[in-house]
Amino acid sequence: MLKGKNIVLGVTGGIAAYKSCYLVRELKKAGAAVKVVMTDAATKFVSPLTFSTLSENEVAVDLWNRDQSTSSEIGTRHIDLAQWANLLLIAPASAHTAAKLTYGLADNLLTVIALAARCPLVLAPTMDADMFLNDTTQRNLAVLRERGVFVIPPVEGEHASGLVGPGRLPEIEVIVRFVDDVLDRTYEDFRSVSVLVTAGPTFEPIDPVRYIGNRSSGKMGFSLARAAAQRGATVTLVTGPVHLETPRHVRRVNVETAQQMHNAVVKEAPSVDVVVMAAAVADYAPAEPAPAKIKKETGKLEAIRLINTIDILKSLGEKKKKSTTLVGFALETENELDNARGKLQAKNADMIVLNSLNDEGAGFESETNVVTILTRDGKTERLPRQPKLDVANAILDRVRAMR
Ligand code: CTP
Repeated sequence: MLKGKNIVLGVTGGIAAYKSCYLVRELKKAGAAVKVVMTDAATKFVSPLTFSTLSENEVAVDLWNRDQSTSSEIGTRHIDLAQWANLLLIAPASAHTAAKLTYGLADNLLTVIALAARCPLVLAPTMDADMFLNDTTQRNLAVLRERGVFVIPPVEGEHASGLVGPGRLPEIEVIVRFVDDVLDRTYEDFRSVSVLVTAGPTFEPIDPVRYIGNRSSGKMGFSLARAAAQRGATVTLVTGPVHLETPRHVRRVNVETAQQMHNAVVKEAPSVDVVVMAAAVADYAPAEPAPAKIKKETGKLEAIRLINTIDILKSLGEKKKKSTTLVGFALETENELDNARGKLQAKNADMIVLNSLNDEGAGFESETNVVTILTRDGKTERLPRQPKLDVANAILDRVRAMR
């Protein structure tokens, strides 16, 4: 199942390192070419010779390449390995390595490769139960997941220390299947496609402290950016104020107001193939934002005069090139389908993704979403409730079919 795939297997320090010997064998049996990179700590548990014999490739440990005599290789081995890999699997991944990846520390060959690699990164965190359950470890893994790192959940059981709980390396077949699934999902069908995604709300200032905005967590837009990057696209994410991690290999542009979002999008849009407007742009902005904070003693604030913000999607639709695919979102509370179809026409979009507030498991803060996809050819397709990343991939599948 892994025929023709190149896998760099990172092995970090932990008693489970010996199980990675079997992992090499199974990955190779499944058809993959495997190159092993070990941390210093890993070599205390298993000899590099074991891995080089099993993988039939040289094992890399040293960042400084002291074992190489040719100067041309010095300093580029990490890039060579990062580019060679279709997937980087770190198993076992220690708590320390997970922490380093979270903060971008690159003090050994493996963490340098992890920073340089554009391919999918899969971690099998393996450690004592108490280390795994520690808030710091959990937080680090959550951050990595949000960025698009694939994390194989460890299994519960007895540890070498005698502790019982989660943190053990899953069965080798489970890891191999997980790797196969990731490679299946990241089939690189967006490799030569550039995608611009907008996400989050916009904040329209009333004064320097207060604002008007829509409720939006940004999760749907970030999931789209993450999915597109995982499928090989060059992704720019223009986002309003949200508290989310930037997905791996995504260029992020932060904006606050609808006008700023418009300016950023208009600047980027001419050079991209696909634009997905997932942002919940405010439709109204205060006409005259106060330059200083409006004090409550100065009198009653009875009314704020509002003006319409610029409709970004509409202005993109007006100038749209034939080769550009334009996707909008719609959030409706009544006459959902009619309104959404109206938006498709009015904004000259190729697709409208309709969110309904009436559905359970959909909406602002939810991890899942229920959407209906309307396309120019008149088709209407309601998708089942699923995680936002899956919704994002389903949208991208339809974009690809359309192009
Ligand atoms: N949108 C935009 N610029 C705006 C407002 C909305 O680009 N100023 C985009 C959104 O990102 C979304 C789509 O337009 O992709 C639909 O937004 P929505 O608020 O549902 O619709 P509106 O056109 O604003 O219409 P209404 O408020 O009447 O529903």
